[in-house]
Amino acid sequence: MRAVEVKKGIYWVGAIDWELTEFHGYLTQRGSTYNAYLIIDEKIVLVDTVKSHLTDELISRIKTIIDPSKIDIIISNHTEMDHSGSIPAIMKYCPNAEIVCSPMGEKGLKKHFDTTSWKFRVVNTGDKINIGKRDLSFILMQMVHWPDSMATYCLQEKLLMPNDIFGQHMASYERFVDEDRFDVVMEEAKKYFANILLPYSRQSQDAVSQIEKLDLDMIAPSHGLIWRGDDVKKILKAYDKWDSNICENKAVIVYDTMWGSTKEMAMSIYKAFEAKNINVEIKCLKKTHISDIMTDVLDAKYICVGSPTLNNTMMPTVASFLYYMKGLRPQNRIGIAFGSYGWGGQSLNEIEKVFEFLKYQTLDTIKFEYIPRKDDLEKMTKDLKNKLG
Ligand code: FEO
Repeated sequence: MRAVEVKKGIYWVGAIDWELTEFHGYLTQRGSTYNAYLIIDEKIVLVDTVKSHLTDELISRIKTIIDPSKIDIIISNHTEMDHSGSIPAIMKYCPNAEIVCSPMGEKGLKKHFDTTSWKFRVVNTGDKINIGKRDLSFILMQMVHWPDSMATYCLQEKLLMPNDIFGQHMASYERFVDEDRFDVVMEEAKKYFANILLPYSRQSQDAVSQIEKLDLDMIAPSHGLIWRGDDVKKILKAYDKWDSNICENKAVIVYDTMWGSTKEMAMSIYKAFEAKNINVEIKCLKKTHISDIMTDVLDAKYICVGSPTLNNTMMPTVASFLYYMKGLRPQNRIGIAFGSYGWGGQSLNEIEKVFEFLKYQTLDTIKFEYIPRKDDLEKMTKDLKNKLG
């Protein structure tokens, strides 16, 4: 399998996971890549590795450039096993290679693997390693998104290898964003932020502010496509918006339904937003995965959640969405809870509890016993429209 030269003497040697459908709860319809980079200099450096089941692919790409036994340094920017999983296999080729990682990276790797014979070199922000014609420096990015996360930067190449941040779960033949459909890559980058980095927005903001000070013409993340040229500014600008929690005048209506009443309520809520010229989308949980809904939630001011009452609580699909969103913690939103019920109506309280936990302003809580009539739904649209101002 071939390596791809991304800069003179620097090669992408990662693996493409065409079959990946799920990444701890995140639906990855487009698969993913685990990007590793090989730097040929006086010292041979491998930046990150791949998931262990794709080790052979990594090694075969490295072998098109050098014998893996010649690797002097393996940089582990992040311990999570989609990037560290092949380190033990690579170490069998080059047992004397140094493992360069953050202090938490060393701790993490020691908990994951038998590292008894590994030589660690622990780095902190600002540390530099000369590898010949090039210097590599490091930025610790604690909790973006693990305590060990860091970025590797090469000044001479204006190249940043920041691991997960700026990544996208996309398997593709192309290696650069400008070779693929920009809108699709951006949508996947947004989904990645919404599902992985959102709870760590403040830490991401700190990391991006350090990164923005660097002289950069390429950002090569550990998943998906590489940003170069003008695309570097575009992804940094997008991150500035996402990690600052800048919302649009937009509503997302998320619901499930048993006999269609909650669906009718969702449509009536839709009409109220539409009448106020507020961008609005309906996401039925029977059809749309919670990780895809989060992409829309990321920049939506209004979050409307509907569930009928089933067995004294919400439908399990709605509970799953709310618990997922609760963990990802989008901030400063306006919530609307809605749903039909037969006798108890407890689903509304359950939705409200999550809004309360997230400290959302609640604009309305709307419920109907069994089946709302046409005039009930029309009044509901009218009342909500008035509340929207
Ligand atoms: Fe791509 Fe946090 O691993």
